[in-house]
This record gives sequence, C-alpha cells and structure tokens, in this order.
Amino acid sequence: MIHAYRGELLSVAQDPRDAPGAVRHEADGLLVIEDGVVIARGAYADLAKRYADIPVETLPGLVVPGFIDAHVHYPQTDRIASHGEQLLDWLDRHIFPAEKAFVDKAHADVVAAFFLDELLRNGTTSALVFPTVHEQSVDALFEAALERRMRIVSGKVLMDMGPEGLKDTVASGRAETEALIRRWRGRGRLGYAVTPRFALASSDTQLADAGALLAEHPDVLMHTHLAENVHECAAVAARFPEAADYLDAYDRFGLVTPRSVFAHGIHLSERACSRLHESGAGIAVCPSSNLFLGSGFFNFGQADKHKLRLGLGTDVGAGTSFSMLYTAGLAYQAALAREERLDPFRALWLATAGSAALLHIGDKVGALEVGQEADFAVLDPAATPLMARRTREADLAERLFALQILGDDRAVARTYVLGQCAWQRP
Ligand code: GUN
Ligand code: ZN
Repeated sequence: MIHAYRGELLSVAQDPRDAPGAVRHEADGLLVIEDGVVIARGAYADLAKRYADIPVETLPGLVVPGFIDAHVHYPQTDRIASHGEQLLDWLDRHIFPAEKAFVDKAHADVVAAFFLDELLRNGTTSALVFPTVHEQSVDALFEAALERRMRIVSGKVLMDMGPEGLKDTVASGRAETEALIRRWRGRGRLGYAVTPRFALASSDTQLADAGALLAEHPDVLMHTHLAENVHECAAVAARFPEAADYLDAYDRFGLVTPRSVFAHGIHLSERACSRLHESGAGIAVCPSSNLFLGSGFFNFGQADKHKLRLGLGTDVGAGTSFSMLYTAGLAYQAALAREERLDPFRALWLATAGSAALLHIGDKVGALEVGQEADFAVLDPAATPLMARRTREADLAERLFALQILGDDRAVARTYVLGQCAWQRP
C-alpha cells in the first residue's frame, strides 16, 4: 500500500558539528510511504506529479523524525518526581523498592503499556530501555512494544550485588540473558542490550561475564551508567583502585566497545574521553536527570573536543519528563551553564539521528530519509497561547528553539509509527 503525507518536513541526519549541510527542510514537502517505509521525500512541487494517483493527507504542523530516547527506565515511571536525594540514596529510598514489584508479570504488563503509550504521546517512537533484574520485566516490555510495532531495545538488568530481593547471580544473569536473546531475536522491531546496572551493582565476575556475553553476541548492545554522580564516582574509585578511572573499570571487563551506550558521563577524565573516542562507544546525555539528582552538567565542549558519539535520553524516573523536546531544551541550558551553545538543529539531531546512530539503528530510523521506516511526530509550535505568540513571526530556527524551551507533550499533535497514526492529540 502506497500513501503520502504533505506538510512541512524537517530532519537532521548528521551532527551539524561535523556536517554543516545536515539540516534538511521542505517548507511544503511530500513524504511517500510504502509498507511503512519512506520511498520518496522532497518538495511537494517536485513530487506531486509523479504521485498524482495516490492518496495524500495533509499534516498540521512541523513533521520531524520520531524521537529516540537513548536512555530511560520503564519501571521507574511510577517513581518520577521522588523527593529529596542524590543518586545512591535516591536508588535505595525510592527506586529499588519500586523495582522489586516487577517480580509480578501482571504489574510489569500494566506499567509497560502505560510507559509505551506515554512515549508515543510525547512523539517518541524508539528507545533504549532499562527494565529490572527480572526476566519477565523484559517480556512485558517487548510484548507491549510488539503490539505497538515500536522499535525498542532492552535487556534484563544484571545486578548480582544489588539489594535483597533485587539481585541475580552470575549464572542466573547469564542464563536469563541468553534465554531472552533466543526468545526475542528477530521479532518485530526489537533489539537486545546486555545491561549491567552500573559498576557498583555487579561483582567483578558478573562484569566479566557481561563482557563475555557481549563478545558472544555481535548483534546486541551494551547499556549501562557511567560517571553520573560524585558520590558514585568516589565509591567506584574505592572499589576499583587499580582502574585509571570509572570508564577503565568497565574497560577491564570488555565492556567498552562500539556497541556500548553509557548514560550520563558527567564526570569524565580526559583519558576516559580519549578512550571513548578510540573505542567508538557513545554517551546518552540526560540533562533533566542530571539536574534533578544534582549530578551536574554534561560537558559538551569536552565531548566535542574528543568527537564523542552522543545521543539524548530522558532517564525517567531520575529524568523529570518523557518529552524529548523538553529534554532538548534542558540540554541547551546544561550546555550554556558551561558556556557552550547548543543550537536547536543540533539538539534535534541529538534527539533523533544522533540517538539512532548511538543505538545502531541509524540505517532504519532517525532522519526520514528514503529507505528508512516512517516513524515521525507532528509538532505544533502554537500548542499554547504563549508558544503561539512567541512563534507567530519566527523563522524555522526560532520555532524549533521555542518548541524545545517551551514545548513538551502538549506540542506533539500526532505520532506515526511505520506510516500509521499511533497517537493523536485530542
Ligand atoms: N545508576 C545505577 N542505577 C541507576 C538508575 O536507576 N538511575 C540513574 N539515573 N542512575 C543509576
Ligand atoms: Zn538511568
């Protein structure tokens, strides 16, 4: 089935830092879709004749690639906005108790469904997701993603040094990881990530086994946290005195590879940045979480100096919003706190094609190019009276920036998955 959408199209396929011509904009564009895949894209005036016989629907707003959340925890949905602590105490007081409930598959099913619907409501069509230590928490998420045809990457959390009621063993972690990879490989648009929670939650033996699992399965990612909070960094330095820095604690176990996605990276040494670049590993930048937990501001200047691979993540429930627009706006503010300027097109790239490349799905989604899957969001720069007023005479860059600074779920008019409307604002 071929069909088409007419509207204002905007995408940023490459990092504008490296490719100044990366912004692609059609003020009056046509997006032609066959079986969920983009088969043509261009100015309406150029394509209209060639596709004169197919049905065309006009979209009300700015069409951008579906957002890709490069780091988010679905079991923390119900604990978003939990008061009072920095990372390690926040985990103990608010998060670990909530994650224990995911031993119950029925509970996991309910939260996974709400979580994915919330992503769609926010224009997010793909994500790299932390579940819990429980095998069934992954099944719940993947089953719900399959129903919604979303591109989701996840994997059972490994944490043999976790608190009582929330720990696995090296053997059970491996067996469940292998069973999940066997069960889910090649289904729908799903992908697997070997997911040690962070250096402090796994024994050396489990970290080494995670490295072995990664080496044994060349089609899976590795997903963990890195250098987020000063107290966490101090605890890692005490636990791994022989490691050069936090990244090195992972590196010794084979966890620093081109398929590795590290959330945060707020406190990175120059050596760690060089090693990240050399290895091809990347960072999911999570500004709302970093502000909420008092972790700090991501150093874009340092990351750019080392040409690090970057994407953008909400990190809900430490993150305070599912909106990648709002998160992009906070990335701007985090950059400015260190006297760096994040332009709105680069922020859009981070939230779409940047995250896609980080997750190794950049050939499939993130830029609405011909051959890619037709996941996109329709944004409304006049979603609120204030936004309407601020954007009424604004050029494209100003409208995009206003969407990021003032916008959130209210500014997402519709979300499309594989060319079909998956959510529409009432
Ligand atoms: N480090 C280890 N676990 C977590 C988590 O659940 N959230 C965040 N933000 N950091 C972590
Ligand atoms: Zn996280």
